[in-house]
Amino acid sequence: MGMRNRTAEAAQPEVTVRPLEERDLPAADRILRFAFGTFLGLPEPLSFMGDADYVRTRWLADPSAAFGAEIDGELVGSNFATSWGSTGFFGPLSIRPDFWDRGVGKRLMEPVLGCFERWGTKHAGLFTFAHSQKHVGLYQKFGFWPRFLTAVMTTAVGQPAPTPRWTRFSDLPESEREPMLRACREVTGAASAGLDVSREIRAVAQQGLGDTLLLRADAGRLAGLAVCHCGPGSEAGSGICYVKFGVVRPGPAAAADFDHLLDACGSMAAEGGLRRLVAGVNLARHEAYLRMLGRGFRTDLQGIAMQRPDEPGYNRAGVYLIDDWR
Ligand SMILES: CC(C)(COP(=O)(O)OP(=O)(O)OC[C@H]1O[C@@H](n2cnc3c(N)ncnc32)[C@H](O)[C@@H]1OP(=O)(O)O)[C@@H](O)C(=O)NCCC(=O)NCCS
Repeated sequence: MGMRNRTAEAAQPEVTVRPLEERDLPAADRILRFAFGTFLGLPEPLSFMGDADYVRTRWLADPSAAFGAEIDGELVGSNFATSWGSTGFFGPLSIRPDFWDRGVGKRLMEPVLGCFERWGTKHAGLFTFAHSQKHVGLYQKFGFWPRFLTAVMTTAVGQPAPTPRWTRFSDLPESEREPMLRACREVTGAASAGLDVSREIRAVAQQGLGDTLLLRADAGRLAGLAVCHCGPGSEAGSGICYVKFGVVRPGPAAAADFDHLLDACGSMAAEGGLRRLVAGVNLARHEAYLRMLGRGFRTDLQGIAMQRPDEPGYNRAGVYLIDDWR
């Protein structure tokens, strides 16, 4: 008994958790790729995610929500929180494999929970590996409960279709951007009270990660939006248009608008010379999932959405929304 305790104490390293700084980004990026690549058993772990980027883009989007864990002055892991108004999520969380199972991951949960507290996040979530008892067990300790699967789906990009109802956020003159952000907030808020993805729209515009597609209804008012990452250096990677977030206004036209939104994303991808469209959907959003299947999307990767509190949030039937919380 005494022996066991001493060994356990010796194995518990002194960990400092602190905001991530710009000089940490190369190490954080490397650790992220190595950790996921190792967990997934890739022959070359560092090749994980190819030329896609999560660390720099998320740090730039909100440096106050990016955290690192340090042991003996060396970075050993990181975690990132994201505020979408009433909803928040976190990740990617990654720890250098030689420090796994020594409590570092748990320590990096503390600051992201602090962010949700500070932001007044009503509903928090994450995407993780459904088959991993360790992952589900770790997050469950912090009050997150496994609910529905989330499917990350892909389809090939075809010829640009004539979808005249969409425009690009990047084409708006500066003076129209704030009003458009307000219009977007109105649509996201109609889909789920208080939902606000301004942070993503701004990050894509400021960092040149892709574009936000704006879908108009006949009367010219905003019917939906899709925040897309395109190509290398974004969350998409080469050849890919990744819909990080998409939604249409609820109502009788929602199903048709959702089809239009997917078509428009395909057109934008085709115009950008991209080959594949990637978009995630939680399976509790039955109609959205079934429509994507019906339009030729196939699941590439699936995980589980864990949510705190254990409530549906916007992961429920009738919500035409694209996202995966990765
Ligand atoms: C997942 C990852 C971040 C965890 O970090 P870590 O530092 O190894 O985790 P910790 O040691 O802090 O916590 C592990 C917890 O898992 C839980 N756990 C492990 N095995 C478990 C099991 N079989 N059943 C239930 N819970 C289990 C325990 O609760 C443990 O906490 P405890 O020490 O209080 O018992 C890390 O392994 C990693 O980087 N993996 C690769 C990348 C990745 O998968 N990231 C997360 C994607 S969502």
